This record gives sequence, structure tokens and C-alpha cells, in this order.
Amino acid sequence: MKKASRFVSFEGIDFSGKTTQISLLAKRLKEKGFGVDILREPGGTPISERIREILLDKNHLEMTAISEMLLFSAARNQLVTQKVLPALQNGNFVIADRYVDSTTVYQGYGRKIDMQIINDVNRIATMGHMPSLTFFIDIDEATFQERARNTSADRLEQAGIDFFRRVREGYLELAKKEKQRIVTIDGRQTVGAIQNEIWECVTKKMHLIDEV
Ligand SMILES: Nc1ncnc2c1ncn2[C@@H]1O[C@H](COP(=O)(O)OP(=O)(O)O)[C@@H](O)[C@H]1O
Ligand SMILES: [Mg+2]
Repeated sequence: MKKASRFVSFEGIDFSGKTTQISLLAKRLKEKGFGVDILREPGGTPISERIREILLDKNHLEMTAISEMLLFSAARNQLVTQKVLPALQNGNFVIADRYVDSTTVYQGYGRKIDMQIINDVNRIATMGHMPSLTFFIDIDEATFQERARNTSADRLEQAGIDFFRRVREGYLELAKKEKQRIVTIDGRQTVGAIQNEIWECVTKKMHLIDEV
């Protein structure tokens, strides 16, 4: 059977535990001798990091939804070209802290840009390069609010609870539509329990059983 590409992405609302789980997964893969590149969106290349600063700037309240979508997508195209494809070519694992599903959910469901436009722009930005496995870590509103307390929100995190609801609903719908690729995980579990679930999926999907 053909092995799935070693491209994995993590999705979920802020504070769902993506970064926590990514560093644990990367550590575990490295311990087994695999090369691992962690990429965060938006960012990961000099141009993409500059775009990230524009997107996260609290003063940029006048930014239109379309500008936001196009900036994220420009940053992503740089990332795919300069980082994702070369890393996969070298046989490394690529773990993306957010990828194209974030645009579908935040700019599509969240900011209500037409889904046809979103899909077209996503295809252009990724040039068709999709992860073979995506973990959607799902947390409910209460968990979100609990974890968000005492943190200083950036421009995107300030968007409010209605926005949170649309985004979460978007992720749930998307995961239902793309069952082959997207694995939904209950983010209210302990860090260790979530990691075990993720590890099991990765080793199965990537056929690593014989190698680890
Ligand atoms: N399973 C978990 N249970 C409880 N707290 C968690 C869990 N996973 C992460 N956290 C905590 O929640 C916060 C957000 O986690 P983080 O990994 O940064 O999320 P994200 O990258 O999705 O925004 C951090 O303070 C982290 O320690
Ligand atoms: Mg994070």
C-alpha cells in the first residue's frame, strides 16, 4: 500500500492545545529518528513572518475580510514553496500549526466570505498540496473561556464569542465532510490522553508500525 505523505496539520480554535500537542508529537517522532519540521501559520518564512505581523497587529481594525484572506494565502504560498515541499522532498515530517482549513473556517464560516471564493483561493495558495492527516482538536465554549482568561488577546482573538461559535461549527462541519483526512479529537481530555490518540493515528496512517 502506498504510504501517506508525511504532511500533518493541526487545526482548532485558539487555546485548543495545538502547539502543546505538536511539540509532543515532534519530540516523539524525533526520538524515533525521524526528521521533523514544525511550521506555524501564518509565518515560517521571512516574507510570511512579515505578513504575520500585519495580520496580528491590534491596530489594524480596518482590515477587510478579503485582505485578511489574501494575506493568509500569500503567507501560505510562500510556506508551501519554501518550506513544506523541500522538507517533504528530504523525507522529513512536516507538522503545520494551522493550514488551509483555518482559512476555510475563519474567513469562510467566521467572516462569511463566499465558500466558492475561499475554495478557489485555497487551491491557488496550496497549489494542491494538502496534508494527508489533519487533527482538529475540538474544545467547547466553557473550556475556551477558561483557558483564555488572563491572556492578552491579539486582534484575531478579540473577535468575540459569536465568532467563536461560527468557527467551531465550521470546523465540525468540515471534519464531517472530510472524514478521510480530518480526525476530530476531544480537546478536553488530558494532554497525555490526546497525545496517545494522535500517536496512534499517525503511526497507523503513515504505516510507521514497522519502523517504530
Ligand atoms: N489537554 C489540555 N488540558 C488542559 N490544558 C491544556 C491542554 N492542552 C493545552 N492546555 C493549555 O491550554 C493553553 C493553550 O494551549 P496551546 O497548546 O497553546 O493551544 P493553541 O496552540 O491551540 O492555542 C496552554 O496554557 C496549555 O498549557
Ligand atoms: Mg498555538
